[in-house]
Amino acid sequence: MNLEQMIEKRVSIRVWEEANKPVEKEKIEKILDAARRAPSWGNVQPWRFIVIQDKEKIAKLGELSGDQDAVTNSGAVIVCCGVAGDFSKKLQRAALKSVMDVQGFDWTVDFLDNAVMESPMFAPYLKGKEIMESKAGEQVMIAISFMTFEAVNQGLGSCWVGATDCVGVGEYLGIPKEWFVHDLLPIGYPGEDPAPRPRKALEDIVAWETA
Ligand SMILES: Cc1cc2nc3c(=O)[nH]c(=O)nc-3n(C[C@H](O)[C@H](O)[C@H](O)COP(=O)(O)O)c2cc1C
Repeated sequence: MNLEQMIEKRVSIRVWEEANKPVEKEKIEKILDAARRAPSWGNVQPWRFIVIQDKEKIAKLGELSGDQDAVTNSGAVIVCCGVAGDFSKKLQRAALKSVMDVQGFDWTVDFLDNAVMESPMFAPYLKGKEIMESKAGEQVMIAISFMTFEAVNQGLGSCWVGATDCVGVGEYLGIPKEWFVHDLLPIGYPGEDPAPRPRKALEDIVAWETA
C-alpha cells in the first residue's frame, strides 16, 4: 500500500471484528517501528510505548477511558508516553550531537553549545518543566500519527484515544515516575468500514501568498 492509499484509508476504528481478537506480535512491532522512525524536535525522541495485550488489562484501560468500546474491545492497546526529562540540557545536546555526527546539521560543537543550547527558541529546558513536558507530548503525537498509518498498512485499524485518565493509567501500569501517559492507541482488526469523516475544505484552511 502506498502512502496516498494509507492516508485515504485511515479512519478511526471503534468497532472491532471480534472483541479482543489478538493482533500478531510482528504486526505490532511494525507499528512500533513506524513510531520510532517519526521525526522529533532535535531528534530527542522523548517517547516510550507500553504494549498491552492482556484482556483484563485492556478492560481496565477501557474503564479508565470512560468505558470506550474502542479501547475495551481492542486487540491490543499501545500506551503512548512522554518523557520531559529527555529535553534536559544534557539529553537534548546528546540528541543533537547524534545528528551532527551523521552530518545532519552543519554545526560546530561551539555553535551547538553556545548558540543552540543557549537559545530559548531551540532549547526547551531554558523555558522550564512545563514547556519540556508539552514539547515531549507534541513529539509523542507525531509518533502516534505514524503508527496510525502503519496500522492501516498492516490491515489493522486504530483509534487515537486522548480521553483517558492519564494519571490513573500510569498508576495502574506502574510506569516509571519520569514518564507521563499522553494517549492510548487501541489497535485491532476492523469490524466496521466507516466513510471518511467530514473535513474542512482546503480553501477554508489554506492561504496562498502568490505575490
Ligand atoms: C488527540 C486526539 C484525541 C482523540 N481522542 C479520542 C477519544 O478519546 N475517543 C475517540 O473515540 N476518538 C478520539 N480521537 C479520534 C477523533 O475523534 C477522530 O480523529 C476525528 O473525529 C476524525 O475522524 P477520523 O480519525 O476517522 O478521520 C482523538 C483524536 C486525536 C487526534
